[in-house]
This record gives sequence, structure tokens and C-alpha cells, in this order.
Amino acid sequence: MDIMQLMKWCRSYRRFDQSRPIPENVLDHILEAARLANSASNRQQLRFVVVRSPEMVEKIFPFTHWAAMLPKEAGQPKEGEHPVLFVVSTYETAAKAKWTDLDLGIAEARMTLAAAAEGVGSCILANIERDPIREALDIDAAYEIATITAFGYPTHESHIVDMKDGDVKYYLDEKRNFCVPKRSREELFRMV
Ligand SMILES: Cc1cc2nc3c(=O)[nH]c(=O)nc-3n(C[C@H](O)[C@H](O)[C@H](O)COP(=O)(O)O)c2cc1C
Repeated sequence: MDIMQLMKWCRSYRRFDQSRPIPENVLDHILEAARLANSASNRQQLRFVVVRSPEMVEKIFPFTHWAAMLPKEAGQPKEGEHPVLFVVSTYETAAKAKWTDLDLGIAEARMTLAAAAEGVGSCILANIERDPIREALDIDAAYEIATITAFGYPTHESHIVDMKDGDVKYYLDEKRNFCVPKRSREELFRMV
């Protein structure tokens, strides 16, 4: 895939082949992408918990919530469609700086792109239940749980569609593939 195809393919995926684990070398690329990411003043404040054992992934899964824009449960991965890897992004609360959230976004974008380059789909999740996740993973109270990124080999497609009347809502087509409206270039960019 060239870089622009990769950008198009690197969407949010919400149904996975749960029987297909992520090989070590692909996991290595995903984690290395986060490690090498840019960060403000090169502070590298983020810390990640890599949830890879199937038992632990299943323990965390009920505390993740998917596709809130779709009718109830329509976007929630069903039994056998769960992700096979979670990367929990955290930072020390007392050390939070102006740009920590931006660092976080960059690290997640890097991880999801590295995954996509290997055919692995992902979904960044902010709609998560942080207290039970903290308990299950024994995450120190001094650390904020920012987001979780879910990974797995996707079993659906996701297509970019033109946005109509400013409606940002994604939807499922007749094959249950995701359709994701994006704003036009004219709306986003002012050329001078
Ligand atoms: C910071 C952030 C938080 C998100 N949280 C969730 C979430 O909790 N659950 C979910 O299903 N999708 C979540 N998403 C995925 C967005 O819904 C998705 O990026 C958006 O609909 C556009 O689709 P695309 O990623 O395929 O372009 C999140 C994305 C971002 C960037």
C-alpha cells in the first residue's frame, strides 16, 4: 500500500477475527511506532500497558464501548469479533503538561498506522470505564488512563463517503461495512 492508500485504509475497525492473534513482529512494529513518536520537548511522558493475553483482553473488553453514534449495540463487537490486543495509554497525572494530549494523539496515530501497514485494524477508544480497567491491570493511582487502542485483523471494511449537510454520523451499509463521512477539502483548507 502506498502512503495515501494506507491513510484511507487506516479507519476505525470494530469487528475482528478473534481467532487470529497478532504476530510478534507486528506487535513489535506497533510498539516501536509509539516509542519513536514525536513529543513536546522530547519529554516522552506516555506509558503504555500492553494487554495481549486472551484472558486479560476478555477481562478488559466489557469496559470498552463502541460506536456510540450507531443504534444501540449495532457497533459493539459481538462474541468472536473482539479485538485481540489492547494498548492502554497513560501518563503521570502530576506531570501532565500543555501538550500531553497532543503527544498522545501522535503516538496513537503512529501505532494505528504501523498496524494498518501490516493489515491490522484498530480503534481508539475514549469511551471506557477507567476504574475497573485500573483495577484489572493494577495501574498506579498516580497515572491517568487516557485512552485504549484496540487492535485485530478486521472482518469488515470501512469506506470514506462524502459528507452531506454537515452530518458527521458514520453508518453501516447493507453489508454492515462502515461508511465514514469526511468533510470536503474546500471546507477544511483555506489556500492563500
Ligand atoms: C480520541 C478518540 C476517541 C475515540 N473513542 C471512541 C470510542 O470510545 N468508541 C468507538 O467506537 N470509537 C471511538 N473513536 C473512533 C471515532 O469514532 C472515529 O475515529 C470516527 O468515527 C471517524 O472514523 P474513522 O476513524 O474511521 O475515520 C475515537 C476516536 C478518537 C480519535
